[in-house]
Amino acid sequence: MVIKEHYSLSEAAEILGKSKETLRRWDRDGKLTALREPISEYRLYKKEEIDSLIKPLFDNIEDETDNSENPIKEFKVLELFAGAGGLAIGLEKAGITCAALNEIDKWACQTLRENRPHWNVLEGDIKNYNFEKFNGKVDIVTGGFPCQAFSYAGKKLGLEDARGTLFYEFARAVQEVNPPICIGENVKGLLSHEKGDTLRGMISILDEIGYNVVPVKVLKAVNYKVPQKRERLIVVGVRKDIDLKYEYPQAYQSIYNLSDALKKGKLYDSDVPKSEGSTYPEHKKAVLDLIPPKGYWRDLPLDLQKEYMGKSFYLGGGKTGMARRIGWDEPSLTLTCSPAQKQTERCHPEETRPFTVREYARIQTFPDEWKFMGSVSQQYKQIGNAVPCNLGKEIGYSIIKFLNAYYLSESKPK
Ligand SMILES: C[S@@+](CC[C@H](N)C(=O)[O-])C[C@H]1O[C@@H](n2cnc3c(N)ncnc32)[C@H](O)[C@@H]1O
Repeated sequence: MVIKEHYSLSEAAEILGKSKETLRRWDRDGKLTALREPISEYRLYKKEEIDSLIKPLFDNIEDETDNSENPIKEFKVLELFAGAGGLAIGLEKAGITCAALNEIDKWACQTLRENRPHWNVLEGDIKNYNFEKFNGKVDIVTGGFPCQAFSYAGKKLGLEDARGTLFYEFARAVQEVNPPICIGENVKGLLSHEKGDTLRGMISILDEIGYNVVPVKVLKAVNYKVPQKRERLIVVGVRKDIDLKYEYPQAYQSIYNLSDALKKGKLYDSDVPKSEGSTYPEHKKAVLDLIPPKGYWRDLPLDLQKEYMGKSFYLGGGKTGMARRIGWDEPSLTLTCSPAQKQTERCHPEETRPFTVREYARIQTFPDEWKFMGSVSQQYKQIGNAVPCNLGKEIGYSIIKFLNAYYLSESKPK
């Protein structure tokens, strides 16, 4: 019996469940090297190489989801409240150009300029900028405006009712630029802020300035290739003259965990680089030393539970974020702006310390090359504030899909 050592292009394509074109591309990209038959020059694939590819394909079988979309032309974004650029990086990765970014924090601005010297960083209070010059020049306005209450008594609100808040500034920028689509992002808590009145007011204001708001949605970062249980509320406004549906990005099935974030593997092709980081005070370290991976304050002896938790011990509720040590095989809990604060400890799985700056950045899916400026605590703050880059990228694809459809419909004779 002759044991088959090679597969033809069609056989390999069939076994892997991929098209012949994909295999040719993999060959060109060096992902799967083909041999050539001596006379015909047809591609041949080593059997053992194809067999070794089958398992990873099965491992990722649920990841048939693919939100990626190429822009049909250059799309530009004005990113407000840009921070250290988490959302901006994601949008850029999806293929959207940053026309300008506004941010008040000087360290975050330095971070943006250091990493992308060509980006147009508008430093300072948004209140001091007029964005009319971007009218007709950008396709998207985005912004993670900090959440503030404004008085809403069940009546329909207009832009002027929100004056003095940062949402007002966001909406004013949208009005000045008048893009086909605008996207606001916020904490999930905005849903219940003032029993929902704050959000209802925002929707009413966007309506008044000419935007239909798509039913709002909380996106779980963990469904978008982010090794963290972070959630963001997304508010999408579509300009009223556009009769097209915006679709949120589809969730991926596979979930990434801390090991994917910090070790060489599916998310990064090297272990996390060494970097600075903060430490726990002596007492907290002594307490956290007793907590196993994936454990929290309930894993302490009862007397220590009472001492560490103080009044919270008697208040009920899980408080599962307190004295928490993350495990390698789970996504991190949501990172905050300072890594050692009580209530939100996220201790490293093996060492009793908070995550370092670069570990923080990895959990937020920033690229390792992205530098953060300012003191260590300024760096943590910028990272903790960010939209995870991978989530931003998927949001970016959803915008591209929408804008592609919009500009194609515009170019058709009416
Ligand atoms: C939640 S963070 C945005 C994070 C960013 N989207 C990212 O993905 O990295 C909100 C940002 O708004 C900025 N900010 C707050 N008040 C501002 C103002 N008046 N003008 C401009 N930026 C402001 C803060 O400094 C902070 O960086």
